[in-house]
Amino acid sequence: MRQVLLNCKAWVFCCAVMVAGFTQAAEMTKANIKQALADAYKKYRHLDEGKNADYIPALAKVDSGIYGIALVTADGKVYTEGDVKSEVSIQSISKVFTMALVIDQDGTDELLHNMGADATGQVFNSIVAIEQYQGSEMNPLVNAGAIATTGLVDGKDYDEIWGKIASEYNEFAGRELTVMEDVYQSEAATNQRNQAIASLMHAYGHIDENFLRATDIYTRQCSVGVNAKDLGLMAATLANAGKNPVTQKQVTSAENVPEILAVMATAGLYDDAGKWLYKTGLPAKSGVGGGIIAVSPGKFGIAVISPPLDAAGNSVRAQKAIADISSALGGNPYQVSAH
Ligand code: DON
Repeated sequence: MRQVLLNCKAWVFCCAVMVAGFTQAAEMTKANIKQALADAYKKYRHLDEGKNADYIPALAKVDSGIYGIALVTADGKVYTEGDVKSEVSIQSISKVFTMALVIDQDGTDELLHNMGADATGQVFNSIVAIEQYQGSEMNPLVNAGAIATTGLVDGKDYDEIWGKIASEYNEFAGRELTVMEDVYQSEAATNQRNQAIASLMHAYGHIDENFLRATDIYTRQCSVGVNAKDLGLMAATLANAGKNPVTQKQVTSAENVPEILAVMATAGLYDDAGKWLYKTGLPAKSGVGGGIIAVSPGKFGIAVISPPLDAAGNSVRAQKAIADISSALGGNPYQVSAH
């Protein structure tokens, strides 16, 4: 009997240690955050999967070895690992912040009525997806919807529209970002497909007659240079109800953040958005420059840069590192404890 009791006690003790261990691992302590970043950095540093985007010639030349992680808590503490100095072009991650600008300008219904908020289930520059519903039933994060969204930014000319977009991005990042001119020139010389997409969106009434100007401004917004820390802070601003947690500036209206995150959740990783959400629960956005941002609302924003991409156009290392880190820190907003 004594032995049975001792065994029972040992079992209860083991369970308590396991639960304590689990709870501690999911806690956002400074030590846990640092450990989670270091673990993910180390685990994927030598991963050799994926390939730089090359349909924009300048992107093929980017160092595939760049690998940086930045997590910024909703109260503004910055944690980094690896290369957080090298800049890559923001590419499609920019779509989130132009969407934020237009939602602030026109309200949440405008985008919903114009191009919708559903995942297309197709690649990010699909023409088939436009044709299926004549440019409706899409979203502001695929190329067609994103170019149309850029076309909705108010302004009398190119410079005024660009100025608004650039200052929105600067406020999200908390510093003045610059355009990588080589990337811009390279994409501007090869973006006939996006011009065709914009033309089709114009034909279906989703963008006005300045559709080629919108395509060019969109190309410029995609060429803005960012490092992992910039992206981490941009994501953390969304995690903190639209207020940059370092500069304390309210960049986008707090009440619109849920809609922005909803579109990121449904379409941020394109045709792989469902798989990503299933695995992590995190609204996220990728770019063909190799960055991914993800948001754990009220907790943290995280960004990883690593240029090699998978077939859907999403950074291989960034997906893995973010999934691991978020899981170690309890970042999945759908994972709650029972009352
Ligand atoms: O329009 C394009 O094709 C690029 N400027 C952006 C695409 C992109 O980043 C897709 N993301 N994964």
